[in-house]
Amino acid sequence: MNDDLIDSPALGSRSPDPAPAFAVNPVRRRLLQAGVVSAGLAFPGIAALAGALGQPRIGFKPVAASSEDRVQVPDGYLVQVVYAWGDPISDGPAFKADASNGAFEQAEQAGMHHDGMHFFPLPEDGKPSSARGVLCINHEYTDDGLLHPGGVADWSHAKTVKSQNAHGVSVVEIEHIGRKGQDGRWQLVRPSAYARRITARTPIRISGPAAGAPALRTQGDRRGNVVFGTVSNCAMGATPWGTVLTCEENFDAYFNGPEKPTPEQKRYGIREQGGGYRWHEHDSRFDVATEPNEANRFGWVVEIDPLNRTKVPVKRTALGRLKHESAAVALAGDGRAVVYMSDDGPFESLYKYVSRERFDGKNPAANANLLDDGTLYVARFGDDGQGQWLALEHGQNGLVAANGFAEQADVLVNTRLAADRVGATKMDRPEGIAIHPASGEVYCSLTRNSRRGLADAPGPDAANPRAANLFGHIVRWRENGGDAGAKDFSWDIFALCGDPQHADPGKRGNVKGDAFANPDGLGFDRDGRLWIQTDVSAGTLNAGDYARFGNNQMLVADPASGEIRRFLSGPNGCEITGIARTPDGRSLFVNIQHPGERPGGRSDPAAPTANSAWPASQFAEITGGRPRSATLVVTRRDGGVVGT
Ligand code: FEO
Ligand code: CA
Ligand code: CA
Repeated sequence: MNDDLIDSPALGSRSPDPAPAFAVNPVRRRLLQAGVVSAGLAFPGIAALAGALGQPRIGFKPVAASSEDRVQVPDGYLVQVVYAWGDPISDGPAFKADASNGAFEQAEQAGMHHDGMHFFPLPEDGKPSSARGVLCINHEYTDDGLLHPGGVADWSHAKTVKSQNAHGVSVVEIEHIGRKGQDGRWQLVRPSAYARRITARTPIRISGPAAGAPALRTQGDRRGNVVFGTVSNCAMGATPWGTVLTCEENFDAYFNGPEKPTPEQKRYGIREQGGGYRWHEHDSRFDVATEPNEANRFGWVVEIDPLNRTKVPVKRTALGRLKHESAAVALAGDGRAVVYMSDDGPFESLYKYVSRERFDGKNPAANANLLDDGTLYVARFGDDGQGQWLALEHGQNGLVAANGFAEQADVLVNTRLAADRVGATKMDRPEGIAIHPASGEVYCSLTRNSRRGLADAPGPDAANPRAANLFGHIVRWRENGGDAGAKDFSWDIFALCGDPQHADPGKRGNVKGDAFANPDGLGFDRDGRLWIQTDVSAGTLNAGDYARFGNNQMLVADPASGEIRRFLSGPNGCEITGIARTPDGRSLFVNIQHPGERPGGRSDPAAPTANSAWPASQFAEITGGRPRSATLVVTRRDGGVVGT
C-alpha cells in the first residue's frame, strides 16, 4: 500500500445461507495425510518440523542497489512473470493492453496490486508436488487511473464495479513444464477447476462472537452475518488445516465518511472523502451517512478454502477488527491454534489469538471453527526485554460497559480502543510477521514512523527506540517456554534498518551486509532463512538519504549471525510483496506491486508509462506499456534450492 497515505499526519441484496465452511475434500485429506498442506511455511509445534536447524546457507552473490526499470536477481538465477494484472484466471477473457476490459471481464482476470501470497501443492505420487499447485494471491488496492482507459474521468457505475472487481483475492492453478527442477518454466493451468476470484462484491459469511451484533447489521443485511466483499487485502497466512487467512488492511479508504466522525470512526481513520476512491458515488454501501455500519464489516481476517471454489469465505470476528496487515499461524504446545497479527498504523500494536480448542491433524473437519472461539491478546513490550500478552476479554482489564464495552462484540468491533484501554505498546507501524520454523521465534517488521517523538505523539521507548523513525526496524520475541500459547515473552531488536554508516550510528543494530530501509513483508523458509521485503514509499524512493538503497527490494537474512544480502531489486516505483515457495525450495514466487507508482499513490493516467513500463520494459513477450503488478517465479538455472 502506498505509504505516503499511511504515514502522513492526516490521517444489496442478501445471499442464500452459505454452506458450512471448510469441510474436508479428498485432495486436502491426502495432503494432510502426507504431512504438508502448506509449502514453504512451517508450523512450529508440529513435531515433524520441530528441532534445531543448522545455520542456513546463503550462497548467492548479492545484487547491487538499482534504479533500473527491471527485476534484478543474482547471477545463475532466472526470473519469469507468470500472472500479471488482467491475465485470465482460467479460460476467460484475455487482457487488453489499453485497459478496456469491462467490469465483468475483470472479475475473471487477475486483480490489481498483488500482495500476500501462498502456494498450496497439489498431490503427486501421494506427496505434495513441487511442480503443480494452487496459488492464492491478494489484490490489495487499485490505481483507478491505470485501471480504465480514460482514468477516473467520467466516473461511472461501470468504473466502480470494475474497480471493485480488481480487488480481493485470486486462486489460480499453476504448473511447472519442462524438466522437473531444471531450466523449465511455470504457467497457469487453463482451464482449471480451482480458479476463482473473490472480489469486493463476493458474498462472505461473518462468524464468531461479533456476528449478528447490532454494529454489524445494515439495511441490506438485517441479520449482520453476510457481507459483500473483501478489500485492502494485504498479507496472507496459511493454517495447518489447509486454509488461507487474508488480512483486510486500509478499509477506511473506501468509505466516504461524515463531516464529524464518531470517536470510534476516527480511531479507524473513517473521514470525509475517505482515501480518494469514488465507490460511494455509485454504491451507497460505501457512503457512511447512508449505511453507517457497513464500515464495521471490514477490517477483519478472512478465511478462504483454496481448494474448493464453492466454499463461502468467512470473516472471523474473534480475531478482532484492525487495519490487519498480516496473520501468521503457529500451534501452542498443547495444540491450540495461535494467530499472530499486526495492525499497520503509526502507534498501533501487535496481537495474538489463541483458540480454545486444539488442532486435530487426523480429523480436519474438527478444525473448521477454531478461529471462532478463543482469546484475543495484545502485546505490551517492557523496557527490560520482557513482555506480556494482555487479554482483550469483556469484563477484564477495564473492558466493561462503563468504558464503552457492553459485550465482547464491542471489544472485537473496536479492538483498537480496547487495546488503548488495556495499555498496549504503541509500535512503529507493525507490518510483516514470520515465525522461525525451528525455534518458534516471531519476527515483525516495524516499517517506519516519522511521527515518533513529535510534540503531540509518544516518544521513543525500548521497543521503538528511534525518534522520527524513517528507516524502520525488525523486532523479535520468544514465548516463555517456547510455547506459542504463553502469556509472557522475551524480546529484542533484530535489526535497526538504514545504512549503519550513515543512518543512526549510535544505535546500530546487528545487521551486517547490505543496507535497506522500511522492512515490510517477511517470510521464513524451511531452512531458517529470513526473507525481507521493502516498501520505501514513492515519495522518498531514490531520494535524499534513501538514494543509496535503490528501488524496493528483497533481501535474505541469517537470523543467527545477522548477515543480510540483497537478493532481488524491483522495477521503478514498485514495492515487493508476497512470498511463497514450493516444498522442494526450488521455485520462489514473489509479487511486484504498483510498478510506476508516483507520490500520492496514483499513476498519471495521461502518461501511464512515465515512471515505469514494467513488465513490458523487461520481457519481450509482454506487450502494452501500462505498468502491471505481477507474480514472478524465481528459479536457479542449475535447478538448485533458491537462496542457498
Ligand atoms: Fe498493505 Fe501495510 O501494507
Ligand atoms: Ca505491507
Ligand atoms: Ca508498507
